[in-house]
Parts: sequence; C-alpha cells; structure tokens
Amino acid sequence: MAKTFQQLTQILDELRVAERSIGLVPTMGALHAGHLSLVERSRVVADTTIVSIFVNPTQFAPTEDLAKYPRPLERDLEQLQKAGVSVAFVPEVAEIYPDDCTTSIVAPRVAQQLEGEYRPSHFGGVCTVVLKLLHLIPAEVAFFGEKDFQQLAVIRQMAKDLNLVTRIEGCPIIRESDGLAMSSRNVYLSTAEREIAASLNQTLSFVEGQINQGETDGHILMAEMRQRLIDAGVSDIDYAVLAQPSNLEIVDEVTEDCVALIACHVGQTRLLDNRVIQVD
Ligand code: PAJ
Repeated sequence: MAKTFQQLTQILDELRVAERSIGLVPTMGALHAGHLSLVERSRVVADTTIVSIFVNPTQFAPTEDLAKYPRPLERDLEQLQKAGVSVAFVPEVAEIYPDDCTTSIVAPRVAQQLEGEYRPSHFGGVCTVVLKLLHLIPAEVAFFGEKDFQQLAVIRQMAKDLNLVTRIEGCPIIRESDGLAMSSRNVYLSTAEREIAASLNQTLSFVEGQINQGETDGHILMAEMRQRLIDAGVSDIDYAVLAQPSNLEIVDEVTEDCVALIACHVGQTRLLDNRVIQVD
C-alpha cells in the first residue's frame, strides 16, 4: 500500500522499468462488488491495477456526509488483496490538498444539470481529484462505473477537453439480488427503507417497458416514473428524467436511445440509479 507520493513514486518507477501498463480504479473506499467489477475489468485490460482509496473532501458540500462516510480501510485492503490488486494508493487529505493548494478544475457543461443542480460544487471536486490522480499515476486506462452516469460523462468530457492521454472506460452497474444498485451508502438503509429502495430499479424497468411498448411522450413517461417512486414510499425525488446519453439534455420525445436517471431520498439516504434504454 502507498500512502505518500514518495511511496507511490517508488512503485511507479518499478512498474516503468518493468514496462507494465497501468489500469487505475479511483474509489472512495467502502468497497463492494460494484467497485470490484471495475478492478476485474482493469485486470483484464492492464498489466497492473492500482486502486486509489480517498474520500475526497472537495466533492462534498458542507451539509453532506463527509464526516460519517464509511471508511473500513482494513476490510477494503483485504478485499483488494483477494481480488489480486497489488497496489492500493491511500493518501492523506494533506497530501492531496496541502494548505497552499488553491487550484481547482471547472467541470464541463454536462456537469451543470441534474446532479449539478442539487450539488453545485460536486463535479468540480470530482474533476479536480480525478485529474490529480491521473497526473500522479500514468495510467493507460481509468475505469468508472455507469452507476454514476453523469460522473462518467463529466470525466469523459474533461479528459477530451484537457487532452488527457489516459483512456476512460465505463463499466456496467452491479446490482444486489433485489435490483438495488450497489452503493457504499446502502449501509445507511434500514430494512424497511431497503424495500423502498428497490423501487428505483423497478421504476427503470417500468419505463423501459413503456418505451418498448411504443410510448414516446417524454413528459408522460417522466410523470409515470415520479408517480411509481412516490407510490413506493420514496420521500423526496430530486429528479426522475429521461435524457440524451451524450449531453444529458431532457428528452421531450423518445426517438432514439436515451437514459432514464433517478436521484431521490429514501429516509435520510440519497440514492442514484439509471438505465440506458435502447430504442429500435
Ligand atoms: P465511489 O463512489 O467510491 O465509486 C468509485 C467507482 O465505482 C465509481 O466509478 C463508481 O461509478 C463505481 N461504482 C460504484 N457503485 C457501482 C456499481 N453498483 N456498479 C458499478 N460501478 C459502481 O465515484 C466515486 O467514488 C468518486 O466520485 C471518485 C470517482 C472516486 C472521485 O472521488
């Protein structure tokens, strides 16, 4: 495990001499099968997989759960070892953001809607830390989950805009047996909330079914998504929309592939889910 830049540099020097390609999987820890699926993919694509574990303070607003974000480091490292990862990069906050660090990234336009409306500073923080990680670690490929669909779009756009050499690869959403998308925040859900949470995936299946049966009116479809979530007991819906996969603009009429995206609160826990829906 590397904690400091110095330790990391030593490992990277060895990898360079051995001419091993690097796959990077950035995470905030509290690892689950969703994270490990990115690791598995990286192990297929790259010679060495580096997993970073860093709960990035700049992507949390002051009102959010930074302090209580789960940090089971020992268990994470055990899981990584079992998954065949030999390098974990686990820096301290002061290493990534020393006191005199005042530069940050302005996230691309695709960051502005949806999550951007509810978490205005979030993607700026994500872009800043991901760019720093990509500068520190000369990865050939970096892996991100489609679970955070907008995050993936933002990072792809940043990589394009800033001419990054690392290829960005998206990986499919991994779900629990009841369909709930795996998330480090699922541990906050009570048993009753867990049942309500399953309605996100059910709602995505429902809207996909409606579109497959020929409904094309985006506004009818979005109203139905919202109603399903309310009926299931979801307390607060930030958005339940159909959008264009490339720029996340809202779809009025479904004529081509789109993505259904949901962000809502179940009890105190904010959950995200999405599904790309193919249209023939
Ligand atoms: P974190 O929430 O820990 O997620 C790390 C990576 O795992 C992200 O790319 C996320 O999309 C992916 N992931 C999470 N749950 C998944 C699931 N159920 N199926 C597939 N992939 C899943 O996202 C972040 O951390 C941070 O914003 C980060 C990119 C590390 C920057 O701080």
